[in-house]
Amino acid sequence: MKNRERFSSRLGFILISVGCAVGLGNVWRFPYITGKYGGAAFVLIYLIFLAILGLPIMVMEFAVGRASQKSIAKSYHVLEPKGTKWHWAGYVAVAGNYMLMMFYTTIGGWMLAYTVKTAMGEFSGLSAEAVGGVFTSMLGQPGYMLFWMLVTVILSFGVCSLGLQKGVERITKIMMSCLFLILLVLCIRSVTLPGAMEGIRFYLVPDFQKMWENGFADAVFAAMGQAFFTLSLGIGAMSIFGSYISKERALLGESLNICILDTVVALLSGLIIFPACFAFQVNPGEGPGLVFVTLPNIFNQMAGGRLWGSLFFLFMSFAALSTIIAVFENILSCTMDMFDWSRKKAVLINAVLVTLLSLPCLLGFNLLSGFAPFGEGTTIQDLEDFILSNNLLPLGSLVFLLFCTTRYGWGFQNFLKEANTGTGLKFPARLRFYVSYILPLIVIFIFILGYWQKFA
Ligand code: PHE
Repeated sequence: MKNRERFSSRLGFILISVGCAVGLGNVWRFPYITGKYGGAAFVLIYLIFLAILGLPIMVMEFAVGRASQKSIAKSYHVLEPKGTKWHWAGYVAVAGNYMLMMFYTTIGGWMLAYTVKTAMGEFSGLSAEAVGGVFTSMLGQPGYMLFWMLVTVILSFGVCSLGLQKGVERITKIMMSCLFLILLVLCIRSVTLPGAMEGIRFYLVPDFQKMWENGFADAVFAAMGQAFFTLSLGIGAMSIFGSYISKERALLGESLNICILDTVVALLSGLIIFPACFAFQVNPGEGPGLVFVTLPNIFNQMAGGRLWGSLFFLFMSFAALSTIIAVFENILSCTMDMFDWSRKKAVLINAVLVTLLSLPCLLGFNLLSGFAPFGEGTTIQDLEDFILSNNLLPLGSLVFLLFCTTRYGWGFQNFLKEANTGTGLKFPARLRFYVSYILPLIVIFIFILGYWQKFA
């Protein structure tokens, strides 16, 4: 039996978990759905979901990982009662990781491409239309996107191939430190722009009226989905890091740190985007195009915009790459657990596999754009996002919940013992009723609500 690899430090563990959590969900998705559902009113609901739903489930993921000392592909095998079938959920979770990467690598590639474009001054002097045109024309060029997707995949697997400590931990630590630094610099730039105040007000003063107009149920569903997505819950992307740590610390305190850092990055990303939008009078409720169309235009009008723009896209790229590296690490570990491969072999096979699996999303914007899964204008990426975010993440989280609370699974006592081993904040035993009965019902209810809204 090989010895399991370990992180070299507690900071490494926390920064990598934060690196996995902080991604496009924080810097791209969060700002635009917040814009859509009325700013602070939405943020409020979102924060509630993080606390009552995200945090306990994160503790459960880490507990499952640490107790089993395996990736999610094998965790259930180790912990489930003999003869039960929980491990099927493990395979679904592995599929979820691939599903996420199937569209994430393409967007990661866009971020890298935009960093280079902005730094080269490609947007300088272009009209607003022309800036929008750059994005549209990029979507029409599969070869160009393929190039950047490959760069993303090769860079990230390259880091993983160096090993857990020397690759993943070392590089992610550097990247996350830079990310925090750039985040602060950009925030200060944005909130000191003339006219920024209005954006800050929009962002921080709740507008419940607007939330009603856009559908309260929609907002609640979006907030819950965002809570799962941003914390990387439901597919074992977090549990893997539980398997790399010692028993020195109790898991609630660690999870709380990670949730707080993730939330800080999301909130501060909004604080970059909204003041800038209002200062330059553009609509922040723009949707997914916000980052690639609206913001380059803003940088164009800003003094020193080329520098600020490049920094901004570098920040976005770090957020995306840290998530991709973390999820690749999980994928590698899963295949190493399942097939007993060496890390090198797992890297080679998975790099080819992930590249191939990324093609449908990439081609969905051009050659395969005739396929519109949810009607006019929707793409394969929307379909993949739907399968993952509306299904695999909430259902996977539900399985974690049930596994850790019922006696037909791992059971509450085992979970509690693992979670509370070590120093620091303990998971309160009196939450048992809440996590066993109320929380699963909340997840199921909102899951059904999501389908209702999408298709009714
Ligand atoms: N948390 C990541 C983000 O915000 C996405 C993610 C979801 C990563 C699920 C892993 C698992 O971008």
